[in-house]
Parts: sequence; C-alpha cells; structure tokens
Amino acid sequence: MRKVKVGIAGLGRLGKVHARNLAFKIPNAELTAACSIIPAELEYAREELGVADVYEDYREMLAQADIDAVAIVTTSGEHCWQIAAALDAGKHVFTDKPLGVTVEECRLAEAAVERHPESVFFLGFMRRYDPSYAYAKKKIEEGVIGTPYMLKGAGI
Ligand SMILES: NC(=O)c1ccc[n+]([C@@H]2O[C@H](COP(=O)([O-])OP(=O)(O)OC[C@H]3O[C@@H](n4cnc5c(N)ncnc54)[C@H](O)[C@@H]3O)[C@@H](O)[C@H]2O)c1
Repeated sequence: MRKVKVGIAGLGRLGKVHARNLAFKIPNAELTAACSIIPAELEYAREELGVADVYEDYREMLAQADIDAVAIVTTSGEHCWQIAAALDAGKHVFTDKPLGVTVEECRLAEAAVERHPESVFFLGFMRRYDPSYAYAKKKIEEGVIGTPYMLKGAGI
C-alpha cells in the first residue's frame, strides 16, 4: 500500500508529538514536509525527524510540497483558514482541536469541508475515542448516574 505523504504545520508542544508519530510510528504515513514560523523548530524537523522539505510559510508548503495531506497543529486561531486553504489545495486534513476560536471562522472551515466532499477532514477531539469517556457517556445516556453537572474552579 502506498504511504500517505503528510506535511505538518506547527511543531510546538503538541506538534512535535504528532510529528514523531507520523515520522516513526504510523506505518502507512510518511512525514515529507514541515512548516513552522519558528526557525528552531524547522531545524528540529531536519535534524530529529529527517524532514528536509521545510517551510516558514504555510501556503508555500501547500503549493510546493509533495504531500497528500496536512496535519494542522498550529495555534488555535490559525486552524480554520489553514483547513480551508489545504482543502482548496486538494489535500486531506487532520486538525487538532479546537476547530477554531470564533463561530465565524468555524463556519468558514465548515463551508470548506462541504465544498470538498472528495477530501477527508478529521478533527482530533481525541477524548471522544477514549474508552473511559465513551463508557461515562453510555452510563449518562442509560440514566445510571443521574443528571451530570459541570463545575469549574480556579485558585487565587
Ligand atoms: N488534543 C490535545 O490534547 C491538545 C493538547 C495540547 C494542544 N492542543 C492543541 O494543539 C494546538 C497547538 O498547541 P501547542 O501547545 O503545541 O502550541 P505551541 O504554541 O507549542 O505551538 C504552536 C505551533 O504553531 C506554529 N504556528 C503558529 N502560527 C503558524 C502559522 N501561521 N504557520 C505555521 N506555523 C504556525 C508555531 O510555529 C508553533 O510551532 C492548539 O490548537 C492546541 O489547542 C491539543
């Protein structure tokens, strides 16, 4: 089976985790390009991940890199336009959560996904796939634990 060629955008705290998984742990994926606005992270991609094709400009990566898909792990406010640009460039898209930070930009991403039914879009809300969360959701739906309430606290 041909490997899916992926370009990653964002190589910060979480981006490095996704990048290492793509580069070394996911058998059918190949990390072929990387993009970050932080030059030291591009050096990391070259030195630690063996990715020679690196970009400071996201649109340049979309236009020039040999990639089938992008993994977007940039700052949350960048996700939506990057999703739309990637889909419009014919790429499949994985984005870490959240989708975006305003409803308006989320709507733009939604419209891009609807514009491109030929491409795969996946939003990484990983807790949805966590067996313990799925179990808790099932128990709530079965009425086993009554009405759930959410409390948020902050120390001062
Ligand atoms: N699923 C989870 O559990 C989880 C955990 C942590 C973070 N996140 C999400 O992952 C995303 C990244 O978080 P982080 O903690 O790694 O952030 P970070 O600040 O450590 O890294 C952000 C990265 O985005 C890059 N970037 C920003 N703007 C860019 C642009 N225009 N083009 C290219 N690169 C750009 C930066 O260069 C940097 O590499 C956030 O959306 C965050 O909410 C999810």
